[in-house]
Amino acid sequence: MELDQHIERVLWTEDKIAKRVVELASEISEDFKELHSPLVVIGVATGAFLFLADIVRKITLPVLVDFIQVQSYGSGTTSNGAPQIVHDIKIDIRGKHVLVVEDIVDTGNTLSCLISHLESQGASSVSVCTFLDKPYRREITVELKGEGKFYRGFECPDNFVVGYGMDYAELYRNLPYVGVLKPELYE
Ligand code: PRP
Ligand code: MN
Ligand code: MG
Repeated sequence: MELDQHIERVLWTEDKIAKRVVELASEISEDFKELHSPLVVIGVATGAFLFLADIVRKITLPVLVDFIQVQSYGSGTTSNGAPQIVHDIKIDIRGKHVLVVEDIVDTGNTLSCLISHLESQGASSVSVCTFLDKPYRREITVELKGEGKFYRGFECPDNFVVGYGMDYAELYRNLPYVGVLKPELYE
């Protein structure tokens, strides 16, 4: 069975993704070049694993990499609105500048939970880089304090997308592109 056959249409090809990753990484490298300590890049597991791996290799500054896991979706396609931290970071982020790397921001519940958690651990600033964004789907405003910046790869149409880390029932994360899943597969 070929995974490709489950995809109705491709939204961002491998090539388009790679080009946008380079642009984002150079913006980030420029914005944080005056830091006196490494930028702490925190990937939100599991969805962000590929985007994180790609973007850190294009950031030209020293970074520390860690993962955090916040679950908001079950096996379905909609948020249950109650995110929980199921795996915390190992790095001490007190006084450090943090960049949270996400695959997609939808309702904003996951990110808001994460931002308050990281701020409460004493980060000097919390910025966010999300590959995709669905700003029209927010249930909560994502607020970044002080020097916190928000980077996004692309605005995502209101489809259920999979690939490049994003799943449906844990599947499709390994697709190298982002596509719309055939609705008959989850309806
Ligand atoms: C997805 C996605 C984001 C979050 C966005 O993760 O990777 O982390 O949902 O949704 P929100 O803005 O509505 O909170 P999910 O909880 O499905 O876990 P996963 O990364 O392991 O797939
Ligand atoms: Mn996620
Ligand atoms: Mg998921």
